[in-house]
Amino acid sequence: MNFRSLILLLPLPILCTCTSPDPVAKPIAGSVENLLPAPRNLQIFSEDSLVVEGFEWQAPAEWSDLMERWQNDWAGNIFPKSLENRTPLHFHLKPELPEEAYVLEVGTDGVTIEAGDAEGAFWGLVSLRQMLPITCETGTCETVKLPLVRITDSPSYPHRGLLLDACRHFQPIDRVKHLIDQLALHKMNVLHWHLTEDQGWRIEIDAYPRLTEVGAWRTEKDSTQHGGFYTKAEIRDVVDYAALRGVEIIPEIELPGHSRAAIAAYPWLSCTGDALPVPNDWGVFKDIYCAGNDSTLAFLKTVLDEVVELFPSRFVHIGGDEAPKVRWSECEKCQTRIAHHHLHSEHDLQSWFIGEIGAHLATHGKTLIGWDEILEGGIPAGATVQSWRGVDGGIQALREGHDAIFSPTSHCYFDYPLEATDLAEVYTFGTVLASAPRDTPGRLLGGECNMWTEHAPAHLVDSKVFPRLCAMSEVLWGTADTARYPEFLERLDAHYARLDAQNVDYGLETVPVTASTSGTLQFHVAPAMRGVSGSAGFYPRGGARPDTILDLPATISVDGIGEVRTEIVHRGRILADPERFPVANHKGLQASEVQITHTPSPFYPGGGERGLVDGWRGSQDFRDGHWQASQGDNMRVNMYWPERIAIDSITVQFYLYQDAWIFLPDQIDLAYYVESDVIEVIEFRPEDLGWRDVRAPNDAQAPIEITLPVGVFTDGFWLEAHNSGPCPGWHDAATEPTWLFLDELIIH
Ligand code: ACM
Ligand code: ZN
Repeated sequence: MNFRSLILLLPLPILCTCTSPDPVAKPIAGSVENLLPAPRNLQIFSEDSLVVEGFEWQAPAEWSDLMERWQNDWAGNIFPKSLENRTPLHFHLKPELPEEAYVLEVGTDGVTIEAGDAEGAFWGLVSLRQMLPITCETGTCETVKLPLVRITDSPSYPHRGLLLDACRHFQPIDRVKHLIDQLALHKMNVLHWHLTEDQGWRIEIDAYPRLTEVGAWRTEKDSTQHGGFYTKAEIRDVVDYAALRGVEIIPEIELPGHSRAAIAAYPWLSCTGDALPVPNDWGVFKDIYCAGNDSTLAFLKTVLDEVVELFPSRFVHIGGDEAPKVRWSECEKCQTRIAHHHLHSEHDLQSWFIGEIGAHLATHGKTLIGWDEILEGGIPAGATVQSWRGVDGGIQALREGHDAIFSPTSHCYFDYPLEATDLAEVYTFGTVLASAPRDTPGRLLGGECNMWTEHAPAHLVDSKVFPRLCAMSEVLWGTADTARYPEFLERLDAHYARLDAQNVDYGLETVPVTASTSGTLQFHVAPAMRGVSGSAGFYPRGGARPDTILDLPATISVDGIGEVRTEIVHRGRILADPERFPVANHKGLQASEVQITHTPSPFYPGGGERGLVDGWRGSQDFRDGHWQASQGDNMRVNMYWPERIAIDSITVQFYLYQDAWIFLPDQIDLAYYVESDVIEVIEFRPEDLGWRDVRAPNDAQAPIEITLPVGVFTDGFWLEAHNSGPCPGWHDAATEPTWLFLDELIIH
């Protein structure tokens, strides 16, 4: 890599008190070249010139207590420890430096870190830490050699965060601390701790013990219990732990939606007062806090009184997203509130409700953050907006004089699969931040990556957060340059060893293999990123072992229905969650002509006409590219073979996810041809084939197979799957058009 490329163009006008030799022209190897996030300005004067066996810390009076705690809590384990031969490590308070800025100098006499605040001093120390060999991370370094350098550095954005959803899956304290350690290592300074949700309430509240007695626990579909919560003592401990590592914790207490766990504990909080369980499925639920009930508002204020006691942050996040208004529109108390305050709609009621909460938080000196939905109906004065549905909401907030945080689904949702957001995509997030207008009365504070945990119990969180967080840290620090992405990857390759030493169970940078199909049916799988190797084989349905397992890149012959399963090795580790491709080799692949007469959604084209008989089936993820969908319409397929074939049955696989308006068909018709004559039309109805049984409200999302017994000799057929009509009355989106999702017609 090229060092000069690291000397960025934004040096701060700082005079250094130390003397160092003139910069040498030639790039020099040393771990300072691999700082991540990259510093704003790095000058290297000579290689391995300062030998350190131990440090003698000297801090100004303002910082001495804090720095003693740093040494006792974490730095003492990492930095060389000799007590005899100690090198000066001097901190200087320079109030003229910008917030969080630091200047780190390694000279022949020792190390100095100058900063205007303790945060800056901390980031300087983190840079020094990243210059040490990896052995120091595990407490086994003795003597280290440091290059003589001068680093002048500061972040572009003051808010550099990670959201951790501790509710969908409980995240034990040691995992939370592990993530805080990693935020600190990457100079990120905010943990947004999502503590209340439909599926679990995670924070102890003395005034309302049932929130954790009842609301912290749910019965899963397999009858096991899932749950957990943090005691106040644990929360205080974590807040302190984070503060000693440059990280502020912002609690999120969701309202008025995503509140089913609280309602399970205290049913009077909702509009209906119905007893409801803590849900064990995902989605958006229509039972939310009643905005017309004074007791509900009093409850929330009491909860927040206890919350603000625990978290010194100036912010409290109150959610505000995804709150369906159907209960409010049917609730006498909510309607009375609307009338009493001369509000025009349920959106205005949400605005009024959040305004009450914001005013209450203000009495504690706290600023409210809400998701961009809080813009609807008007946002309380002084509130900060976190924009997740793109960044338009955030930009609107900036224009209206509110501060904003950007975390759009396009770049920041680390629960999304790598197919949606890979490392390279995250690295381009800076262009989104830079697109915000600059001349607004509100200020763009920065960004967050969001780790929602519907599909991530605690042991999977690392694999989704890393290495994407490494890219995000550089974007938010402000030194990511997309033109130099390959140089970032080189530094990341070195950085992985530090993550290994920290027991970070990182995942992949991008989808590890690419796959394609050809003929009848060859499935080609090849590595798609550096450092990935492995093997693949075809596993027939029913559990049989594959005949052969081939090293990648591999071409696999598929016989029958099953999946091509890979074993993937990355940096010596076998991935626990290998790629699987559901496949089927069947007579449909030999069709000479396929026509569809519905219009597939441009979002879900599913490979077009041939996509319905290409042998590549859809997975559990309906966004995987192999599902073809149509909204508000039937799906119709015509198919011919070059010669007459016998068809015993046809398996059609639909997707079912009623929360996302995806329903099964009402009926499937099949007409088959001999030459060009229609011989018979067969109607398949749910009651005949038993697919009606799976049509429960709020069903979990799943592919559903329906096998149509056919039994014909034919030259071709026409199949029509009937859309079930608008969302039914019980649905949150009643009367809206439903979707049909179909992946493959498997001809047996
Ligand atoms: C969100 O993802 N509903 C903020
Ligand atoms: Zn109500």
